[in-house]
Amino acid sequence: MAHDHGFHPVRVTRVIDETADARTYALDAPFSYRAGQFLTFKACGTLRSYSMSSSPDTDTELRTTVKRVPGGLVSNWMLDNLRPGDLVEVTRPAGAFCLRETAAPLVAFCGGSGITPIASLVKSALATTERRVRVLAADRDGDSVIFGDELADLAGRHPGRFEIERHLDAERGLVTGDRVRAFTGADQDADFYICGPAPFMDLVESTLLSLGVEEGRIFIERFAAADEAPAGPEKEGTVTISQGGKKKTVPQRAGETLLQSARRAGLVPPFSCEAGNCATCMAQVTEGEAKMRVNNALEDDEVAEGWVLTCQGEPTTEHVTVVYED
Ligand code: FES
Repeated sequence: MAHDHGFHPVRVTRVIDETADARTYALDAPFSYRAGQFLTFKACGTLRSYSMSSSPDTDTELRTTVKRVPGGLVSNWMLDNLRPGDLVEVTRPAGAFCLRETAAPLVAFCGGSGITPIASLVKSALATTERRVRVLAADRDGDSVIFGDELADLAGRHPGRFEIERHLDAERGLVTGDRVRAFTGADQDADFYICGPAPFMDLVESTLLSLGVEEGRIFIERFAAADEAPAGPEKEGTVTISQGGKKKTVPQRAGETLLQSARRAGLVPPFSCEAGNCATCMAQVTEGEAKMRVNNALEDDEVAEGWVLTCQGEPTTEHVTVVYED
């Protein structure tokens, strides 16, 4: 059985102004979640995912923090309209940007509102483990800093275990590879968490890899769909898609997702984020196998039953059949 990936109405109980363009929303949501996970909101005819800034281990409220972005349809609507008492539609918490069972230090790099899931992870790591935790938080300027007092207070309460270094672009310019190397220091065996604007995340990731940090120790939260490479030429094999009583078969193409194959077959399959976060595009593989590039939405037992995010799934066998639920 597929799990509940539907939308649920939840009430906003509190709105906290963090900065001139960032607000935290406390929600009366009866969900359990893990530090670092996100909710997907349905608003303005589209979907957007926002991370929890609260920790399930230290906070009684479930809170998510949203920053205004130029042209941001949902974030701007939330900041301009959402008030205590309002209902919003959200999915259950999802995401794999979570703590691992390890004693390794935790080193995080965040930019702007990327501090949201990092704050959640830091609070849980300090409350439930003995791990050392270090964060380099980059912001445009002092007025843009989110959770400044809360995290400084946490550092004061965990001397020797938690350190947060603030980097203000207005004073020091953008974070550079040298800055990432210097902050990493001798902690190359840490687990690294990265969240922020795409160029920032790319820079931190490539610098860590150049330092010899294992890929499996680097965790990155990306909500936007990665730029899609065009599909390659046709190759051996077929993809068969069943949707809404229609069944179509097309030849496989190198690098093409099942969602792209379904569109090429003339179907109109469901989708939203195209980043592996929302499960709107899920379908069940009933013949053959497919591998997902990113999966932030399906549970292990769903994957074991053959469910796949078609926006992320590529065939790994010669013939693949996927069936969308009606
Ligand atoms: S469209 Fe959101 S996971 Fe595929």
